[in-house]
Amino acid sequence: MSVKELITVPDDILRKISEPINTLQVNEKKLIKDLFDTMYHHNGIGLAAVQVGILKRIIVLDVSKNDNEKKPLCFINPEIKKLSKKMSTYEEGCLSIPNTFLEIERPEICTVSYIDENGDKKEMECDGLLSTCLQHEINHLDGKLIIDYLSKIKKDLIIKKLSKQKTSNRVVV
Ligand code: NI
Repeated sequence: MSVKELITVPDDILRKISEPINTLQVNEKKLIKDLFDTMYHHNGIGLAAVQVGILKRIIVLDVSKNDNEKKPLCFINPEIKKLSKKMSTYEEGCLSIPNTFLEIERPEICTVSYIDENGDKKEMECDGLLSTCLQHEINHLDGKLIIDYLSKIKKDLIIKKLSKQKTSNRVVV
């Protein structure tokens, strides 16, 4: 088990574009395992590699509500193929933006192509929480965060608040 340290706002790496994976090797497989360990450890339902500081297009998800029935999903190089016109709204949080929950409107259904953890090409139509979560994580791969859906003023306020929280933990002796 290897729980990685989470990268949080305002770290610049969260704004970078993640690189596609060409071949699935030992390093990537270990990273996928670490991402699951880190996500479950923090009680998250989704995590992108960039959130542990690695700019690779890998996402892990588990939107199952029951701890006894885990449904781990791994998406490598995910690409959105189709989005529904119908929208849905969830209150979203993000492991990289502590204590912040925002109502975000996104297409209700999305179709995504991706490579799974065994290297197989797949396509999946998702709706509900899975669709929202997947779109949230794909945003991470492109350097986009939930605070980007807000006006600039609100966004700056949140970044300021989070920057202060960071420094308040520092001690000078
Ligand atoms: Ni997030």
